[in-house]
Amino acid sequence: MANHKTRLAAFCSGTGSNFQSLYHAINERGLPAEFTLCLSNRSECGAIIFARQHGIPTVHLSEKQHDTHKAFAAAMLGSLEEHAVDYILLAGYLRKVPEAVVNAYSFRILNIHPALLPDFGGPGMYGINVHKAVLEAGRNESGATVHYVDSEYDKGPVLLQRKVPVEAGDTPESLAARVLKCEHRLYPDALEKLLIAKEL
Ligand code: GAR
Repeated sequence: MANHKTRLAAFCSGTGSNFQSLYHAINERGLPAEFTLCLSNRSECGAIIFARQHGIPTVHLSEKQHDTHKAFAAAMLGSLEEHAVDYILLAGYLRKVPEAVVNAYSFRILNIHPALLPDFGGPGMYGINVHKAVLEAGRNESGATVHYVDSEYDKGPVLLQRKVPVEAGDTPESLAARVLKCEHRLYPDALEKLLIAKEL
């Protein structure tokens, strides 16, 4: 891998445990990447606090701060440019990324989803809703998926996917915890795969 470090932005809306696991994996595995931005639609959340504690620049950006969607998208692109971001990693970002940003970062945005896409994806399918749906459908396995982001929710090409068993007596919460544990390895593995592919 080259000496240049790939500059990453984490987009988060909540705890940011996936962002945190990515940050630690980069250090522990010595990956040639660094977070140069943490962007959130919430002014205070676990991800933003973690970023501040680790000297990563933060941006609070919400559609409500702007009169038009175009202005919101332009502000997002401005932040990405200001921090010279190469790749965007969505980590529990529960908003749709504006089309202008998806186009500017074609095949340079990844998302992690807590199910085996293409099943249990799409609008409304986030967080605990996903695990409820998996249990209601009577599935005996679930999992996590890292995929490229395109203009449709949860539809872009899959980069990496891993299965997790559904166990007898599972609640949405117990399944969520098992899947999240899987996510914390899967996302760093996907980032590593991406960085290797990028250098080929
Ligand atoms: C994760 O389980 C992630 O897969 C999910 O939100 C959680 C965020 O947790 N994302 C989605 O449901 C996106 N459709 P985190 O903030 O602790 O990383």
